[in-house]
Amino acid sequence: MRINRLLSTLMVACLALSAMAGVHVLNNDDVMNNNTKTLVAYFSATGTTMEAATRLAQVAGADLHEIVPEKPYTPADLNWQDKSSRSSVEMADKSSRPAIANRVENMAQYDTVFVGFPIWWYIAPTIINTFLEQYDLAGKTVIPFFTSGGSGAGETLKYLRPSAPDANWVAPKNFNYMNDAEIKSWLESL
Ligand SMILES: Cc1cc2nc3c(=O)[nH]c(=O)nc-3n(C[C@H](O)[C@H](O)[C@H](O)COP(=O)(O)O)c2cc1C
Repeated sequence: MRINRLLSTLMVACLALSAMAGVHVLNNDDVMNNNTKTLVAYFSATGTTMEAATRLAQVAGADLHEIVPEKPYTPADLNWQDKSSRSSVEMADKSSRPAIANRVENMAQYDTVFVGFPIWWYIAPTIINTFLEQYDLAGKTVIPFFTSGGSGAGETLKYLRPSAPDANWVAPKNFNYMNDAEIKSWLESL
């Protein structure tokens, strides 16, 4: 009881002092979320982007969400040497929107959304456009990141931006060979 009273008195004193100094007092939400909530959403056909996304979510202290295609991509679907494979057909038609089986619960709670994917034909797979168009991302910071066989982002942003035109877009980040320390310093630079 006495300890409680002492703590309350201390808290009131701290609040008064910080109010005088014009300092914002941290509340529980600030401490837990740095006053924002962050989501790492990713699509991965063969696991490489999944690994990158998992590490990013750990380092960023973010929630992790896998974008699951309604129809999983088979190895034959992913054959880029076959012009009639599913991925070749989808990527040749920028308006294709492969269906997604799941949704982010309560997207409204996130201020920052990292969106990860493999580079397909020098840009993001069109299932990422499907994902972006499922939500109201206006005013949120959207940060693409990718893995690839060596390509950079190319025109990725040009094809993603129209699917969330009112988001605050950050340049896509290449996650090939990123270690945790590099992820951390990149996050700090944002
Ligand atoms: C259909 C298809 C197209 C691809 N196009 C490219 C490309 O243009 N440039 C590149 O560097 N890698 C390309 N890749 C390789 C993937 O980007 C790379 O293997 C990626 O890390 C796979 O990620 P995932 O395991 O998360 O699916 C392509 C792969 C597939 C299946």
